[in-house]
Amino acid sequence: MKGLLILMAAGLFVACNNEQDNINNSEPSVIDTTATIYKRTPSENGYMIYRANCASCHSMGSKKIVGPGLQGITNRVPQPYDSWLKKYIRNNTAMLKSGDRYAKKIFVAYDSIVMPKYDSVLNDLQITDLIAFLANPPKRPIQY
Ligand code: HEC
Repeated sequence: MKGLLILMAAGLFVACNNEQDNINNSEPSVIDTTATIYKRTPSENGYMIYRANCASCHSMGSKKIVGPGLQGITNRVPQPYDSWLKKYIRNNTAMLKSGDRYAKKIFVAYDSIVMPKYDSVLNDLQITDLIAFLANPPKRPIQY
């Protein structure tokens, strides 16, 4: 009888564990490169996204590469910077077409080179993390 109880208890334990697995497996895996999964801060995650998508054209200093250096970017774009940057990063061409004066000014200043749009590359969370990084880039080089 005691043996049977132990067996039943073990069975219950396995059943619970399976349940746990099922729950984990059914979680959507869309938030792949976000801070939550890698346990980074939003700004750290934003740095990774910047390195992968923006650094080829933008330094984080004042030096021009293809586009302008992004030092102090959150102070010079139209405010509130987060909603302006979100729209611009998603689709700067659409902003140009909608008559955004700042987008037009910077486009003309950079010899009408078209910056890529990221609305199908980066999700909302990734863009939010990226902006957290742009707003507050660390002073020292980062090692991750
Ligand atoms: C292929 C080169 C290229 C890439 C990659 C690129 N940009 Fe740009 N970006 C430009 C150019 C060129 C401009 C200047 C405006 C224009 O010509 O449209 C610009 C302008 C900007 C501006 C406005 C700058 C200012 O001084 O006001 C921001 C903000 C910006 N980019 C952010 C980003 C971010 C964030 C990424 C990555 C997700 C990125 N860019 C990727 C080329 C690029």
